[in-house]
Amino acid sequence: MHDRYEKIPVQVYPEASEAARRVAAEIADLIQSREDEGRGAVLGLATGSTPIPVYRELIRLHREEGLSFANVTTFNLDEYSGLDADHPESYTRFMQEQLFDHVDIKPSHTNIPNATGSSTEEKERRCAEYEQKIREAGGIDIQLLGIGRSGHIGFNEPGSPVTSSTRVVTLDRITRLDASADFQGFHNVPRTAVTMGVGTILEADKVFLLAWGKGKADVVRIAVEEKETEAVTASFLQRHDNAEFVLDEAAAGDLTRIRYPWLVDSIVWTPRMQQRAISWASGKTEKPILKLVDDDYNESGLGELIAEGENSYSLNIATFNDYQNTVTGWPGGKPGANDETRPEKSDPQPKHAVIFSAEPQDALVSMGATINRLKEQGHLVTLVALTSGNLRVRDQEALKLIRCLQTVEQSKSPEWQIPPHLGEHVGSLAEGDAEAALNPDIRHLKSVILRAEVVDSASALGISESSLKFLGLPFYDSGRFRQFHVTEDDHEQVASVLEELNPNLVFLAGSVADPMSPQGITFQLVAKAITSFPITTDHIWTYRHREEMLKPYEIDMAVPISPVQHELKANALQRLRAVVDLRNDEALGEDRAVARAYDKLGLAEYEAMEVFQRLEVAEL
Ligand code: PGA
Repeated sequence: MHDRYEKIPVQVYPEASEAARRVAAEIADLIQSREDEGRGAVLGLATGSTPIPVYRELIRLHREEGLSFANVTTFNLDEYSGLDADHPESYTRFMQEQLFDHVDIKPSHTNIPNATGSSTEEKERRCAEYEQKIREAGGIDIQLLGIGRSGHIGFNEPGSPVTSSTRVVTLDRITRLDASADFQGFHNVPRTAVTMGVGTILEADKVFLLAWGKGKADVVRIAVEEKETEAVTASFLQRHDNAEFVLDEAAAGDLTRIRYPWLVDSIVWTPRMQQRAISWASGKTEKPILKLVDDDYNESGLGELIAEGENSYSLNIATFNDYQNTVTGWPGGKPGANDETRPEKSDPQPKHAVIFSAEPQDALVSMGATINRLKEQGHLVTLVALTSGNLRVRDQEALKLIRCLQTVEQSKSPEWQIPPHLGEHVGSLAEGDAEAALNPDIRHLKSVILRAEVVDSASALGISESSLKFLGLPFYDSGRFRQFHVTEDDHEQVASVLEELNPNLVFLAGSVADPMSPQGITFQLVAKAITSFPITTDHIWTYRHREEMLKPYEIDMAVPISPVQHELKANALQRLRAVVDLRNDEALGEDRAVARAYDKLGLAEYEAMEVFQRLEVAEL
């Protein structure tokens, strides 16, 4: 039935890892069958976070099951302009580190587009040669794709024609923003790149577009359900007869069959689904919940809800009350109150709230006002910064600190000596050498800077340094973005901090994040530790990171924020100056947007809200 909405075949998997195993198995089958025929296989490869689980599985198949890449030829989708091949963010280096170095592929069989050249003609010639080389190899058998939040496949940004071939392109602002943490700031992200065209991609025999995490859900829906459009070039896959979207549940979450299943099929109405449907009808008719009438239900396809003996008035009131009951100024439970309909239980009082933050600043951004409230209401609050977060700290901050230390040393030596090797990095940091940011000394210095800023920021929210725990999990410091490998050590440290702190109220994030991101990885770590910890679902809350706003019907607890508290939070966030791509205004704007969404449903209008979802331990 969902075919009515979905114009591309879509497979949804509970976990990205499971989806990746399936795609890797198809690639392995292709390689094997080609080998049996005495031929080689041709793969079109992608970079970014998304394909990494597939590459890790292919490496495993090579190591453990003898899969050989000796007869495989690869063509990558794209490459940034102007980066040396060994630049940490070049896709050439990415492919070496994530796949080629770990399998038996012949270096001469790997191809990455390259449009270096002194003139436009020379660049165009190189692009044409790339197309030619693909044709000479017999065309691409399986093409892997990610999807950018701009809707791009490869770097085919909005406006790319369906017939486009390999060429030099200008990167979209959203694409550059998404790469800004990798490049130490928006201004460092290359402005142009070379990419296979949409037309090149459409010529592949089989196409898998992969997407993980809620951040991709909206653009995935547009590509799959809306009309083909140059504004979202992934939508051109609708005309390919062997293209498939392979998604995790979070990335599939906005598809009609998942978000509004009653439009697609007859469903069993749970109270939650009813709440969702009625808020959808309210949005669609632009009426607050309490003003919906029978006709609104019918016209929104919800006639069966009122046909079952209920009338719209009683449904409206029940739904309105459900929403009303999510709103609480007592995120740790209200002492002595009847808590039957409150999100968080009253007992025990006070509570020990443990707030996990993937990178130290995350929890302050997403739930700073709630942290302040928990503290004001007498709870013991511990903020556990799971990783050092040093990859988020600007090079310039490290440079500034070294220069300060050098100046102090010159004026006061010998008492003020700093380690002499720190001074060695001044030149490379000043020149913006991307490798300098990966140096362990610089990363350590950045951890120290971020820690100082988080201590300062938390103090603005009433949280003293003694309530902060900086865990510095090893997976983070032994890799950089997209290169993290979790070990038993990470698991043990998380389990032991949980045991040591023994909380009866827990907040964490990352349940719908890209599983390769620090937030996705730390969610898995904490979730695993929680399953064997004696705490009930009643007391475990998830908050959202960045572009993962909750829709009203997904919210189990909404903590209202007054204008004064929102200013307090703004002040706390301003103290996080060293963080590379922290967009404070956006974070504060999201708090306001969610309050407006409640207002539109006909609930009381607050200045802002921080919102949470209950984590069902049984689902972990
Ligand atoms: P990502 O990028 O895999 O890092 O999310 C996907 C893309 O931009 O195509």
